[in-house]
Amino acid sequence: MDLEQLFLKRQSTREYSDRPVPREELERICRLARLAPSAVNSQPYKLHIVTGGKAKEFCKYVQILGSNRWASGCPAFIAIEQGKPAVVERLGQRLLKTEFVPIDIGIAAAYIVLAAENDGVQSCILGMRDEKGIAKFLGAPEGTKYPLVIALGYAPEGYPVREKNRRPFGEAVDVTE
Ligand SMILES: Cc1cc2nc3c(=O)[nH]c(=O)nc-3n(C[C@H](O)[C@H](O)[C@H](O)COP(=O)(O)O)c2cc1C
Repeated sequence: MDLEQLFLKRQSTREYSDRPVPREELERICRLARLAPSAVNSQPYKLHIVTGGKAKEFCKYVQILGSNRWASGCPAFIAIEQGKPAVVERLGQRLLKTEFVPIDIGIAAAYIVLAAENDGVQSCILGMRDEKGIAKFLGAPEGTKYPLVIALGYAPEGYPVREKNRRPFGEAVDVTE
């Protein structure tokens, strides 16, 4: 698919059909996301695929405060666990007073959703999540961070591709030459 078409087609999908996403497909998406760049190549995250019956149990962790009700019908999730940055990244963060880890995670999330859409799998990045609940669910130590969860599945027949609502180019982009 042409890159522009892919970017226009990728959207936050908030309704999913019953069709399961094959495990191999979910693994392929994660394999591609591993190619994402990160500060000093630190790759400070782990991708947790939650699918099948486990997705049915998991969805409540992205439905906090009554949010994301539609996620009940979602067949798969990828929870991004925040890892420790490499020593050099930690030093860089301190020196530059910049948190690179969330940036790295955001880039990985972008790779996930674009890789998925390119394979015909729809998605939605979710910031509304219960990190404590997710850590418990995944058997991780308390305090483990999951900055983003991504819902994945197939949109039902006829689910519309919405027009993009973005700030005007001139507002979002500045050129200095
Ligand atoms: C960091 C982040 C957190 C988000 N959290 C949620 C969420 O919890 N629930 C939801 O339905 N959409 C969530 N979204 C999706 C945004 O609302 C969506 O990307 C934005 O409105 C643009 O629409 P589009 O993705 O369809 O192009 C999130 C997106 C990002 C990048």
